[in-house]
Parts: sequence; C-alpha cells; structure tokens
Amino acid sequence: TYVIAEPCVDVLDRACVDECPVDCIYEGRRALYIHPDECIDCGACEPVCPVEAIYYEDDLPGKWAAYTGDNAAFFTGTLPGRSEPLGSPGGASRTGPLGVDTPLVGGLPEGS
Ligand code: F3S
Ligand code: F3S
Repeated sequence: TYVIAEPCVDVLDRACVDECPVDCIYEGRRALYIHPDECIDCGACEPVCPVEAIYYEDDLPGKWAAYTGDNAAFFTGTLPGRSEPLGSPGGASRTGPLGVDTPLVGGLPEGS
C-alpha cells in the first residue's frame, strides 16, 4: 500500500484525492489517510503531493515508519466518536471528512 506520513498534517492539500482511481484517500481532521486494503498501488497520488507526504510503504523514511500502521488504524473503528469501521470499499468522496484523527496524528503539536 501507499502511506500518507507526517508532512500532510495540517496541510491537507488534497491534490492526491483527485488522482486516486479507487477513491481510497480519506479525510480526517488534520491529515488524510490511505485505506491499505483499498489502495491498488497505482502510485498516482505520490508525485502530486506538494509536501512529499506520500510513500510506497517500503520506501517510507524510517522516522515515519509508524505511519503505515497508523494509516491502517484510521479504519479499524477504534477512533474517538466512531464505533464501527468504515465499510471497504467505503468510498472516500461518499464518506466525506470524518473530523477525527488517529492518536498519533491528533497528538502532534499544533502549528509546528
Ligand atoms: Fe496531504 Fe499531500 Fe494529499 S498534503 S492531502 S497527502 S496531496
Ligand atoms: Fe490511490 Fe495512491 Fe493507492 S492514487 S490507489 S492511494 S497509490
């Protein structure tokens, strides 16, 4: 799968969303998250991100290694305010912004 890492936080450029052929990039509050089971590894999103937040999982810089599991965790239904996992495929555009983040993203300092 491809993974969205820390540079997306509080940027949310969303250029990636328009490129994804399977609509699997979901919007949280401070970042977007790629659904690992829905991503078909087409790679179209990676070059359009202006802050280079998107990586193939094997190419993720070590300092952001936690983001592979973190993107997946966004879809497990254990987030604040969400009792059930998103369906798969949920369809990001149909789902809309979810207004929550994982503890990792939500816990980052604001404005850094
Ligand atoms: Fe974030 Fe880059 Fe997409 S900033 S919303 S991963 S284009
Ligand atoms: Fe979509 Fe990017 Fe995967 S465009 S299919 S999230 S590689």
